[in-house]
Amino acid sequence: MRRFRRDPLPDGALEELLQLAQQAPSVGNSQPWRFVRVRSDHLRTDLANHVDVQVISAGERIADATKRAAYAALKLHGLREAPEIVAVFCDEETQAGTGLGATTMPEARRYSVVLAIHTLWLAARARGMALGWVSIVDPAHVKALLAVPDGWRLVALLCIGWPEANSSVPELERLGWQKRIDWRQNVSER
Ligand SMILES: Cc1cc2nc3c(=O)[nH]c(=O)nc-3n(C[C@H](O)[C@H](O)[C@H](O)COP(=O)(O)O)c2cc1C
Repeated sequence: MRRFRRDPLPDGALEELLQLAQQAPSVGNSQPWRFVRVRSDHLRTDLANHVDVQVISAGERIADATKRAAYAALKLHGLREAPEIVAVFCDEETQAGTGLGATTMPEARRYSVVLAIHTLWLAARARGMALGWVSIVDPAHVKALLAVPDGWRLVALLCIGWPEANSSVPELERLGWQKRIDWRQNVSER
């Protein structure tokens, strides 16, 4: 989702989504997600400008000319329009959970953060809202802009709001970029 209406969410709606996200499962019950709600207009603009630059430079790295032209026509974020912007980090140094399950697989903390995002995403959809995950960023730059602690790793930059339109077919499929793959292709047996 990248096409948002500009109208705000009702009072308390984002807080409710964040509260639901807190119910997500996490390794050792460490709850390592850290949500940063971006309220400042100038930070929003800085983030949008940053992503625009990253989108262009990612496009320049596409070797195939047809694909490069198709890429240039894609809209890849709604950072200027979405009423809410939330950056999500993983606290890699959290003491919560006392390292249970994360000693051999520290990345399990990041997977837990993804689950919290997914919980928030589904809760938003169930309420008619939409969520756009923006990943075309330089994480170090976003960390610096938002002045978060060193031990936090960026997992996602989220746009949340009301969708301009709903469709059961992904926009990238409708535009011929990438269709949904038959599920059987992604399952194997041993
Ligand atoms: C980890 C992750 C990163 C994504 N990053 C972007 C992004 O930077 N820009 C964008 O427009 N969409 C992004 N998306 C959205 C995907 O393009 C989208 O989920 C996919 O095309 C399937 O469409 P659907 O979610 O509408 O079913 C991202 C999705 C995920 C899960």
